[in-house]
Amino acid sequence: MKPIRVGICGLGTVGGGTFNVLTRNAEEIRRRIGREIIVEMIGARRPNPACDTSAVRTSKDVFDVARDPEVDVVVELIGGYDVARELVMTAIANGKHVVTANKALIALHGNEIFAAASVKGVSVCYEAGVAGGIPVIKAIREGLAGNRINTVAGIINGTGNFILTEMRDKARDFADVLVEAQKLGYAEADPTFDVEGIDAAHKLTILASIAFGSPLQFEKAYTEGISKICPDDVKYAEELGYRIKHLGIARRRENGIELRVHPTLIPEDRLIANVDGVMNAVMVDADAVGTTMYYGAGAGAEPTASAVVADIIDVARTFDSPASSVPGLGFVSDELLDLPVLPVEEIESAYYLRLDASDQPGVMTTITGVLSDAGINIEAILQKEVHAGEQVAHIIMLTHSVQESQMNRAIAAIEALDVVSGTVTRIRMDRLD
Ligand code: HSE
Repeated sequence: MKPIRVGICGLGTVGGGTFNVLTRNAEEIRRRIGREIIVEMIGARRPNPACDTSAVRTSKDVFDVARDPEVDVVVELIGGYDVARELVMTAIANGKHVVTANKALIALHGNEIFAAASVKGVSVCYEAGVAGGIPVIKAIREGLAGNRINTVAGIINGTGNFILTEMRDKARDFADVLVEAQKLGYAEADPTFDVEGIDAAHKLTILASIAFGSPLQFEKAYTEGISKICPDDVKYAEELGYRIKHLGIARRRENGIELRVHPTLIPEDRLIANVDGVMNAVMVDADAVGTTMYYGAGAGAEPTASAVVADIIDVARTFDSPASSVPGLGFVSDELLDLPVLPVEEIESAYYLRLDASDQPGVMTTITGVLSDAGINIEAILQKEVHAGEQVAHIIMLTHSVQESQMNRAIAAIEALDVVSGTVTRIRMDRLD
């Protein structure tokens, strides 16, 4: 049988990993699909010293790959939004199947891309875009297709998890760990995407769409990063039996869906609270199967290449049939539901609160009175001396679940008290039970 001819666009960390995995495992892959997959062409501005591409046609212009008549599958690994969008649309217009690791591209332009691919009868695959090497797209779109999914919650940014883990375990400095994550090839070209939660919001947007069968709605996601997490909060959370993780949460509610990325306290005995370093994990709660969890490397050259190559193999398997039988977002396109994304004020969450208050009689009663007046139930309280001899204490409280707007009002009332100085630190909490 004729080989499947792949054109790789971008030969950076993931592009290089993909080239090497395809080359090294060529025989194993041939046995899986009954055909050879060959790298026909590479489009990259510069070579990757980790790859021997001397036998492959190359061009500095990735659009040459998208138009090349010998290429069957275009693998988009250049990243970014605009050029990547144009490249993928050009490939589709030229009748090529597309494999991409670009979550930003899918989260922002996926609706348009899937529509164009459907008209042309080609596949667009993006497994590597979410949670690196973990086959979570396939698990949700295919393995859980018989379920009604209620919640997807995950650690879906390896860099952020690596930073939080190193800060907790080794008391390392935030900036210093970030530099290491960049060197290891985990971080995005713009690392603020990692630490401010934008990368996780891209991935969560995709997970929510395939879980609930709704269009991609990245612009409605609530996004908060980890850059303001301070060591005291990490320490107090541990004392109370919790870990702080950067979570993406998509939850089906009666009147819409919650779509939010933010630091979250999780009970330390949950499996997901123990996912450390660059590892990712995605928990899915569904009506028939119950809770399942998917764990593995969320970033890095070969883990991500593993997902890219699996997608190339999936596409290759469709070559003897008209096109992939799995729709891009896992639901038939005219059956996608326009589920509203709830504003963050309408989400429901438990909270960790930390504030500075005068250390004098009656203060605790005044503060807890504000919460009680707002109908907020307190689960635990901790008081810590800030500096020996000073009349100021850190007050830490864990609350039961309430609507965010209710908590906003209570926090404003606490901040207005004479006995409280500065602002209240608030971290959402999820028991994930
Ligand atoms: N910057 C991403 C992360 C890479 O750290 O998870 C994988 O998407």
